[in-house]
Amino acid sequence: MAVSDLRPVDVILEKRGGAEHDPERLEAFIRGYLEGSVPDYQVAAWLMAVCWRGMSDRETAQLTRVMAASGDVLDLEGLPHTVDKHSTGGVGDKTSLVLAPLLAAAGATVAKMSGRGLGHTGGTVDKLESIPGFRSHLRHEDFLRQAREVGVVVTGQSKDLAPADGLLYALRDATGTVESLPLIASSIMSKKLAGGASAIVLDVKVGSGAFMKTPAEARALAEAMVAIGRHAGRTMRAVLSSMAQPLGRAVGNALEVQEAVACLRGEGPDDLRELCLVLAGEVLEASGLPRTRSELEALIDGGQAYERFERWISAQGGDPGAVDGLALAEGREVIRAKRSGVLAELDALAVGRAAGVLGAGRARKGDPVDPGVGIVLHAKVGDEVARDEPLLTLVHRAGRGLDAARGLLDGTLAVTDEAVAVPLVLETGLHGA
Ligand code: URA
Repeated sequence: MAVSDLRPVDVILEKRGGAEHDPERLEAFIRGYLEGSVPDYQVAAWLMAVCWRGMSDRETAQLTRVMAASGDVLDLEGLPHTVDKHSTGGVGDKTSLVLAPLLAAAGATVAKMSGRGLGHTGGTVDKLESIPGFRSHLRHEDFLRQAREVGVVVTGQSKDLAPADGLLYALRDATGTVESLPLIASSIMSKKLAGGASAIVLDVKVGSGAFMKTPAEARALAEAMVAIGRHAGRTMRAVLSSMAQPLGRAVGNALEVQEAVACLRGEGPDDLRELCLVLAGEVLEASGLPRTRSELEALIDGGQAYERFERWISAQGGDPGAVDGLALAEGREVIRAKRSGVLAELDALAVGRAAGVLGAGRARKGDPVDPGVGIVLHAKVGDEVARDEPLLTLVHRAGRGLDAARGLLDGTLAVTDEAVAVPLVLETGLHGA
């Protein structure tokens, strides 16, 4: 359908009444928005109607397809076993830094464009940029050459990847229409589809530090994204994992790089290692390269995954040898247990916000992040702690944000007498068949 044949108000009325859009009309509406013939206010009204009325799987898949096709689509044809992973975002989530070289060491190709964080701490690219010399902008041909030669390349997301999503997201942000399952699912998946990988694993986080607060909400989002990917011919897997407490023991950009490297050297922490093994097993199986858990563990413990990390960082101009001595801010403030018992709560959202106000995250797009600040956790939920034992260390730069961070954490570290069970991986193997 030509954009000029469309009356945008009809699309709004259709959705307001709860009807399903014809795929061609939906495409013309979104294309019209991109070309400027459908104004912001009409798209905003339609977005609000979508929030209330929802979209069918067919409509969601079509919206995703149109957004994915609105800019560059990476052509990874010819590269072996292309895989990608998406996390819906959490505190201390550095899994991509471990997973990417682990997957490459297992024979897959990880050619990934990663967004910058707009949350409490930076995104994968912000974390990588705390390594001196690391280049997160590569020319297209260098990106593909590195994918071929090293098996792993991660850059910042090109503004030409799914530009329709960028525009729609900004409008959603300004009109209170972010929280809609089909809009979230299509937004995330448009970038994944444009990223070109043939097998994709989604790590959908559940809990206080995540977008989705309950397993039921997370499962619904996972199922919607899996359906979109399958519709577009990709092999999909989704995992639900807990974000009730931060992942691992480090929150903050350089701190998280150090922890990811420790994990690649076989030195844990256990929860990070476990999640990486689960995600790797899922996506490798989906891409036709099944590996047992002990084979994956051997790639970590035998040094192949770490060796691939070194090759990857060097290929992008970084100094892997510098990782052990990354510059951290000098300030330290220790928060101690007020009583003895079992740590029952270590609220991911509070820790994330506290790391954010210390400078680890950005409030607005384009703000700088401070790579050297963050929070180190000395205990995790379920651990026994003694009175006055350190629970957290805040790593701060000359006191910046320290009072606010203390205030955010106040009352969020509960110690009780009861044993506490803390499942990490809540569900695996969601693949929509
Ligand atoms: N992340 C995205 O990329 N899009 C959304 O709509 C929400 C989270």
